[in-house]
Amino acid sequence: MCSRCGGLLDIERRGEIDASPLREVWRQRRASLDPRNRSGVWRFREFLPFTDNTQIVSLSEGNTPLYDAPRSADYCRLQQLKLKHQGCNPTGSFKDTGMTAAVTQARKLGARLVVCASTGNTAASLAAYAARADLLCAIVVPTGQVSHAKLAQALDYGAKVLEVEGNFDTCMNLIRELAEDESVYLVNSINPFRIEGQKTVAFELAEQLEWRMPDHLIVPGGNLGNSSAFGKGFRELFESGLIDRQPKITVVQAEGAAPFAKFYDDSGHESFVNEEHPQTLASAIKIGAPVSWQKAWRAVRETGGSVITVTEQEIADAKAIIGRDGIGCEPASATTVAGIRKLVAQHEIKEPETVVAVLTGHVLKDTDYVIKYHSENLIAPEGAPIAPKFANAPIRIQSVADILK
Ligand code: F0G
Repeated sequence: MCSRCGGLLDIERRGEIDASPLREVWRQRRASLDPRNRSGVWRFREFLPFTDNTQIVSLSEGNTPLYDAPRSADYCRLQQLKLKHQGCNPTGSFKDTGMTAAVTQARKLGARLVVCASTGNTAASLAAYAARADLLCAIVVPTGQVSHAKLAQALDYGAKVLEVEGNFDTCMNLIRELAEDESVYLVNSINPFRIEGQKTVAFELAEQLEWRMPDHLIVPGGNLGNSSAFGKGFRELFESGLIDRQPKITVVQAEGAAPFAKFYDDSGHESFVNEEHPQTLASAIKIGAPVSWQKAWRAVRETGGSVITVTEQEIADAKAIIGRDGIGCEPASATTVAGIRKLVAQHEIKEPETVVAVLTGHVLKDTDYVIKYHSENLIAPEGAPIAPKFANAPIRIQSVADILK
């Protein structure tokens, strides 16, 4: 925290960087076996705030695919849609790209204990990187609100899992208090090193698109670290002349957990009001007091993007369509495709504009949700059943003859 204004710390580059040779340097590193070059984060180290990068804590994060998604495109009434799948990271979510930087910094500082509050993915990611760095790790999660897969990961990687009555925001308050002890290192996206690592996804995306930026980049919004990181990444690429324009960043929130969208809709954008009782089945983004809203607001404002909401029904059907592309994702990630469909219907996105959506988590992160959807048992938080448009329930058979019917 900044001792003067109470806001979050931000890391700024000092001095000019000669970016002209970098595209070629980064391309050549892709063929290298050096662990720093195998990582899709450390490959872009000229833009990371580390002078010594020989002691990095890495799981070969990044290097995630950028898929064409024709069925999802069709669902959104677009000719083309690309999905950047951050769920293909080592622990199955986008958190790894930031965690490699934050845990590297924790080790450098000689931290005794690394901690985070989490809806599950940050927990799984921190637990893995702390294990690699041989650091003690404690994570604080809301009791009963984290998917089994994410909890299982954190346990397996050896983290101390501390369960708290309340929601993510309760956990976040608790952990901020804990981090006042100097030997404790907090790695939620409050931590500017997390944002630094995550911003390299913008670099990797630019490279995959041969440095031609799309018109729109769509991301889910929870604690708002991811949108902040993309904003910073694109800004730095633009300022160093590596790209000639920035995509409009649109953040999509679940209707029941949408304080940022409410702030955006308020024409004066004067005060940010937290959502006291956030509700959504997309448990990863069930957050009412996003810590990085100011940075995310900067990203939206500077790129001319927007903040919108989608319903539980829209999230669920969009998720199933992403599955039909053979890609799959967790519910929070599907807010993006649901959001794009809405933006196209409202003519906020118009052909032939180009669109990239960021999928933040792997389909196996929340299989309970998937099974319930396909067997028509998914119930929205306010008790209304979801009517799945693309249900695909298992079929009981007795014999081969049943298959051929
Ligand atoms: N998608 C997934 C799969 C997430 O896990 C999260 C956040 C988000 C989207 C939202 O990203 O917070 O940067 O706006 N998960 C955090 C966690 C809160 O604890 O795992 P954001």
